[in-house]
Amino acid sequence: MSMLFTLALAGLAIASPTPIRPKNVTAQNITTLSQSVINGFTPYTWYASAGYCQPNATLAWTCGTSCDNNPGFKPIASGGNGNSVQFWFVGYDPSLNEVIVSHQGTDPKELDSLLTDAEIFRGQLNKDSSLFPGIDDSIEVHDGFKDAQANTATDILAAVQEGMSQYNTSAVTLTGHSLGAAIALLDSVYLPLHLPHNTTFKTTVYGLPRVGDQAFADYVDKHVSQLTHVNNKEDPIPTLPGRFLGYAHPAGEVHIEDSNEWDACFGQDNESKRCIVGDVPNIFDGNLENHDGPYNGIIMGTGC
Ligand SMILES: *[C@@H]1O[C@H](CO)[C@@H](O)[C@H](O)[C@H]1NC(C)=O
Ligand SMILES: *[C@@H]1O[C@H](CO)[C@@H](O)[C@H](O)[C@H]1NC(C)=O
Ligand SMILES: *[C@@H]1O[C@H](CO)[C@@H](O)[C@H](O)[C@H]1NC(C)=O
Ligand SMILES: *[C@@H]1O[C@H](CO)[C@@H](O)[C@H](O)[C@H]1NC(C)=O
Ligand SMILES: *[C@@H]1O[C@H](CO)[C@@H](O)[C@H](O)[C@H]1NC(C)=O
Ligand SMILES: *[C@@H]1O[C@H](CO)[C@@H](O)[C@H](O)[C@H]1NC(C)=O
Repeated sequence: MSMLFTLALAGLAIASPTPIRPKNVTAQNITTLSQSVINGFTPYTWYASAGYCQPNATLAWTCGTSCDNNPGFKPIASGGNGNSVQFWFVGYDPSLNEVIVSHQGTDPKELDSLLTDAEIFRGQLNKDSSLFPGIDDSIEVHDGFKDAQANTATDILAAVQEGMSQYNTSAVTLTGHSLGAAIALLDSVYLPLHLPHNTTFKTTVYGLPRVGDQAFADYVDKHVSQLTHVNNKEDPIPTLPGRFLGYAHPAGEVHIEDSNEWDACFGQDNESKRCIVGDVPNIFDGNLENHDGPYNGIIMGTGC
């Protein structure tokens, strides 16, 4: 990680000192995932990693070995510039029979992205926006994440509709890492408001920062049907912005332990040492090198 990114985070710290486990699993305990369940994440991990891949000189999206790891993938649309607008792609995975949406995370070299991440101002999700009709006024999210999601929302909706119709599927999976995870979580609130009720959604994201307030986390728990946010070891990003600023995580955390066990945490912001809040009680207990992975062997942003 670059010094710039470290400094940006330090600034934030001072400003703020399935195969996939469905969220509806009712075990009131922290459970360790089996290797076969962990392996079920792998296609999505590669898609999250491929979110970093750039359109080439002819502005076609190329994803290199990240796509080789998901053979048969059919790109539908892509966009962004990796600077003021994060890269994104939408495509179809024939073996999963799902439309896949992936968002680029934070490239430490891209100053605009850093600024987006460092903003901690929160605002009403539905303010000045037609993207979230009917959402309660009490629901607030990080302005930078909200703006980043709004930049690509309607293009993504159109591409998802095209994919669902072209490939006759009602399954949509959203993925992303870091800032891309935050955008994907907002997409998982946005898309169901605009797609047929029989659409099934899955959201599998990595290194998710806190996106909104308690009302947002509760809305996600109630309405986002299958959310998993995977946190690696002592990655500090998922502990930001701090809970004392009124931010909260929805349920659905999976925490990779130092032993490489994957633990499914129960509830929101579980304070157990087996989950990120207990493992990284403050930013100085964190290790930014854990942010990019490895997630079951995959380092985010590699393979483009
Ligand atoms: C959880 O939801 C999934 C898909 O919506 C369903 O197939 C499964 O039976 C549910 N599990 C429980 C324990 O309710
Ligand atoms: C919860 O998990 C821990 C450790 O895995 C175990 O010792 C404990 O008995 C479990 N509690 C319940 C209520 O299942
Ligand atoms: C860009 O990628 C597309 C799709 O993979 C490919 O067809 C095209 O040849 C590539 N163009 C360049 C200049 O590399
Ligand atoms: C599309 O999928 C639905 C549900 O799986 C199926 O009933 C229908 O026959 C399919 N349509 C086409 C054109 O394949
Ligand atoms: C879902 O609903 C849409 C219309 O709302 C319909 O065209 C489509 O066939 C349905 N898909 C399935 C799989 O039932
Ligand atoms: C954290 O997990 C434990 C089970 O290990 C559970 O008893 C507790 O209620 C959870 N805490 C929260 C805040 O959900």
